[in-house]
Amino acid sequence: MAKLKLIHRCTDCGSAHPKWSGRCVTCGAWNSLVEDVEGPDEKVSLAAGLALVPPGEAKPINDISTHLGGPVSTHIAELDRVLGGGLVPGSVTLLGGEPGIGKSTLLLQLLASSNRKCLYVTAEESAQQVKLRADRLGVNSPDLWLLSEMSLANILRSVDELKPDVLVVDSIQTVVDPELGSTPGSVVQVRGCAHRLVQEAKHRDLTVVIVGHVTKEGGLAGPRVLEHVVDTVLSFEGERHHALRLLRAAKHRFGPTNELGLFEMTEEGLIGVPDASQLFLNDRRTGVPGSVVVPTIEGHRPLLVEVQALTNKTSGGVPARRSAQGLDPGRLALLLAVIERRARVEVHTHEVYASVVGGVKLTEPGTDLGLCLAIVSAISNKPLPSDLVVIGEVGLAGEVRQVSQIQRRLTEAARLGFARAIVPASAPAKTEGLSVMRVGTLSEALAHAGLN
Ligand code: TYD
Ligand code: MG
Repeated sequence: MAKLKLIHRCTDCGSAHPKWSGRCVTCGAWNSLVEDVEGPDEKVSLAAGLALVPPGEAKPINDISTHLGGPVSTHIAELDRVLGGGLVPGSVTLLGGEPGIGKSTLLLQLLASSNRKCLYVTAEESAQQVKLRADRLGVNSPDLWLLSEMSLANILRSVDELKPDVLVVDSIQTVVDPELGSTPGSVVQVRGCAHRLVQEAKHRDLTVVIVGHVTKEGGLAGPRVLEHVVDTVLSFEGERHHALRLLRAAKHRFGPTNELGLFEMTEEGLIGVPDASQLFLNDRRTGVPGSVVVPTIEGHRPLLVEVQALTNKTSGGVPARRSAQGLDPGRLALLLAVIERRARVEVHTHEVYASVVGGVKLTEPGTDLGLCLAIVSAISNKPLPSDLVVIGEVGLAGEVRQVSQIQRRLTEAARLGFARAIVPASAPAKTEGLSVMRVGTLSEALAHAGLN
């Protein structure tokens, strides 16, 4: 048998290095190199896997049929929304998320509500544990088969015998192929096993969903490499202490990647949240300085979220503290500079804490103006009108810029009973039931909001 070579592999990008170092020279990640073995074994096994696939044949582009199997609904509306209709037969989807976030729960609900033949491979829990969970969730399906197994060869054998339409492997980090060498959960194992599953999916037109745990830093353990291998990468997020769970597609070969799915974790499992704005605004207290409602857009979905700011005058000398939750700290710093310089409101003598309520992360610039108003409202200790929403990107000159899909945002605000909106001067059209105030600068917006 040929000798195995000890190498160091980056758990982030999968590159191999002869020597350990504190930083991966390929992708720049810190402390990501782990010991691994590289040897002919891996190649042998991959070659064996490739033998399954019929040899490719070049064809003129016009002879290629574009008739692919379309997506098949999962019967879970929020999941279908993110996937653009459902799971495509022959595709491989990676569902990533922190341990305990609800991946196994979501997949069990998915399989039980699909009316196709499904095989749920649990490599972490016993079949009894999964059955108990299914009982607790009150889900059942005669076509749902359970297999508690860690060995990839046995999983593939079972797929061979059962010929399911959908296969779930929970999780990829606990599946092992002894032929690959290396320890379970290592990059070599995770990647090798995923490769085999992808080959099976394409070969049999099997819908495969792979569960991958993410590390605390937010990266899938090992699986940057996996992202290239699979067709779709879904990430399941949320704070464990909050019931809200957010599902997004980080990569999707069959549709858009910007749709957001929302679930609530309850006693009966995950329940879709079709009216998210209502949920986010449930606990809102009106008449408090520093609070503003911002209509934002996630994919095609308008969402009304509350942005809050709290400020404290510092005694001077030390630089004032700034903290941003659910917001980009760099963006906060930039907007504070714009407020000070362009609207002439003194912020450098104030500690500023800004946060988005409900564990949501806001990344789009359309929320700039709302955040600015919340900060000035906190500093001046004057609440904003409770029926006001604010939309607009703020530029370095203090100008308020146009944002996308204003109409959608305004319609959602009107639906939830808001009566006034501050929008960029160039905003189109008007919305029924909403009095729209157009502003060209941050100072104008402050005046309209009664803050100066
Ligand atoms: P789980 O699906 O096992 O998470 P993962 O597979 O991502 O590790 O979900 C685990 C958590 O969800 C656990 O803390 C209990 C909670 N839970 C509920 O609150 N309600 C339920 O109906 C179920 C099944 C789980
Ligand atoms: Mg699990």
